[in-house]
Amino acid sequence: MKTTRKLMLGCLAAAITCVSAAELPRLVTKDGRHALLVDGAPYVMLGAQAHNSSNYPAALPQVWQAVADAQANTLEIPVAWEQIEPVEGKFDFSYVDTLVAQAREKNVRLLLLWFATWKNTGPSYMPEWVKFDNRRFPRMVDKGGKTIYCHTPFGEETLKADRKAFVALMEHLKRTDGERHTVIMVQVQNEVGTYGTVRDYGPAAQKAFAQPVPAAVLAKQKAPVPGKSTGTWTEVYGDYAEQYFHTWAIARYIEEIAKAGRAVYDLPMFVNNALRDASVPLAPWKDNFASGGPTYDVIGIYKAAAPHIDVAAPDIYSHESVKVAATLDKFHRADNALFVPEIGNSADFARVAFAVLGRGGIGFAPFGIDYFDFSNYPLGAKATDGTMVEPFAQIYGVFRPMAKQWGQWALEGRTHGTFEGDDRKPQQIALRGWTATVSYRERQFGSQAEKDPMEGTDKPNGGLAIAQTGDNEFIVVAQRARIKFEPAGQQAGRTALYARVEEGQYDGNGQWVMARVWNGDQTDYGLNFGAQPLVLKIKIGTYQ
Ligand code: DGJ
Repeated sequence: MKTTRKLMLGCLAAAITCVSAAELPRLVTKDGRHALLVDGAPYVMLGAQAHNSSNYPAALPQVWQAVADAQANTLEIPVAWEQIEPVEGKFDFSYVDTLVAQAREKNVRLLLLWFATWKNTGPSYMPEWVKFDNRRFPRMVDKGGKTIYCHTPFGEETLKADRKAFVALMEHLKRTDGERHTVIMVQVQNEVGTYGTVRDYGPAAQKAFAQPVPAAVLAKQKAPVPGKSTGTWTEVYGDYAEQYFHTWAIARYIEEIAKAGRAVYDLPMFVNNALRDASVPLAPWKDNFASGGPTYDVIGIYKAAAPHIDVAAPDIYSHESVKVAATLDKFHRADNALFVPEIGNSADFARVAFAVLGRGGIGFAPFGIDYFDFSNYPLGAKATDGTMVEPFAQIYGVFRPMAKQWGQWALEGRTHGTFEGDDRKPQQIALRGWTATVSYRERQFGSQAEKDPMEGTDKPNGGLAIAQTGDNEFIVVAQRARIKFEPAGQQAGRTALYARVEEGQYDGNGQWVMARVWNGDQTDYGLNFGAQPLVLKIKIGTYQ
């Protein structure tokens, strides 16, 4: 009897595994919160993005070493149109095959970046047979009638050719990885838009610009200054019309590629964005950002024109905390999962991971994680060795064993996160029944941050993420921060006392493993996290 029951349970477990392993990665949204599901379970991308030219088999050893040192679970790496279709119609997937095979060996998932018609808005990754053939693959024309560097989104042949190559890639992935899901997500193009002109003024673009705004766009993109509710781009969107029109044209082009790719192999897809400054009041384009990209102000147009793109994602390279925070706010929406596929790889950016993961972001990835002798300073780190990855590795190391739980808590709306601002000021987090105050630069014993700040905190480097796992229970992951809890809401006015504070970690299978209990000096001045990130499991009681 016992054996039969065991067998039955075994079958059931096996059946569940079978079902979830066959399930494609996908993005789910519940009550305005999001999760990426991989093999049926929430997956938080603790990512690393390789440099642009690391997409060749010979380069991979220098990539894998850095990815391992960073403790990343996901590698983001380009697949270039020029490399898979160097001759029209002849496809070469040998790099993709090597990459996927090695990723499996290393137990790292992949996110592929389709560098094709547009890479940082330009044509550099198009195959040679495309990028010099202006007749068949036309470029944009500026207001003065001059041909510019960027290919027009109205180039039908360009779209056809790019789409064909992308579909071939997706077919190949389906054939070779359709069961394993080593590749979990695909970026379609890279940092699209156009510098130097707000839109294309070529004949096809001129004709389209005079047409009414499509109903789908009207439904999702409100005019910053109300104009007519229907009509041409100019009538509806006024001074923003040209940027919005160009955005629609590019989003529509991307949609055609994503839709065709997903028709053969339905992986989640996203676009990344070279940001416009989210911390200043919105104003019409003035040659101050790449017009047509998925900047925060036009996410609605991408949702309307490119429904096969799941996420519009920010690439963060500003070192100013106010700009970073404003960007996270704008890209974190009920209709758009927060995902940071690129952030500078210098140490000051590492703490932003606490805010992104705490806010329920589906992933985070410093850019330039490989050991080539190339640095994109001042965007990122000067050094391209182990010191570059270490700050990220510390944080990934604590999140990695509990990434699945964290993704689930995020989907349930239990998580919050913050990072130290350049003003070094304390911050508050509103929790259910509690207010948490997070402060920085404090010593672990006493409160003298102002007079005698903690060593190692000369520059902002603190961060904290918290999950409320029960009414009075929390998991806190933090570094160089202090947290204190104050009863709020229905508990306001009561006195709080720690019931138990355990330091420990999850074991990778969902089990909490306690290392020790914090009490006495370790809790008298709040819970103080030092230079090494830690995980605490906290239960607090109240009395009156
Ligand atoms: C953002 C782009 O998306 C990346 O590919 C890279 O060019 C960085 N900028 C700069 O290093």
